[in-house]
Amino acid sequence: MKIFIDTANIDMIKEINSWGILDGVTTNPSLIAKEKTDLRTCVKKISEIVDGPISAEAISMDAEAMIKEGKELSSIHPNINIKLPMCTEALKATKVLSSEGIDVNMTLIFSPHQALLASKAGARFVSPFVGRLDDVGQDGSEMLSQIIAVFRNYDIDTEVIAASIRHPMHILEAAMFGADIATIPYDILKKMVTHPKTDEGIKLFLADHERSKK
Ligand code: G3P
Repeated sequence: MKIFIDTANIDMIKEINSWGILDGVTTNPSLIAKEKTDLRTCVKKISEIVDGPISAEAISMDAEAMIKEGKELSSIHPNINIKLPMCTEALKATKVLSSEGIDVNMTLIFSPHQALLASKAGARFVSPFVGRLDDVGQDGSEMLSQIIAVFRNYDIDTEVIAASIRHPMHILEAAMFGADIATIPYDILKKMVTHPKTDEGIKLFLADHERSKK
């Protein structure tokens, strides 16, 4: 499973990239606003750090404007893909952008039906929001597994990005289902590294090493 980071924070991206595990980056308007930056400047900086897909989200709500915005954003760097929010206008824009070689990441996916339509329109990625579905008392992981099963049934090559990840169990489930990608917030990536028994083991080895010198 490929690992993307879900942030627009440049320091966090640099740190996680330095671990040697980062395959790409996703941003959204809320993450951009949090960093008090603008989308173009931010994704340009990211493209200088990470060698992999970078999602930049369009904010237009009609197909023609989405296509224009998508073309402008994708001209910043070849690794940039255009995030469009699932709706009929986004499907129309996806058809055009993908036929012109511009990758689309269809976002705000909450059902296998939406994912299937996005793939038919030519989206390279779909982003099912696992955590936000859990938030309203539905099973986000179940929705993710259904999308993966449907795509497998028909050899659909649209990549599934498990998004809106809230804890490490979401990542384990995504990997067990066979999601292509998980886009993970910084804090949760840090949680993936540590285990109390690892910390305990390191302390013990270092203490034993000190004792053996005496
Ligand atoms: O970037 C899209 C998605 O991962 C957002 O997650 O935590 O705002 O539901 P969240």
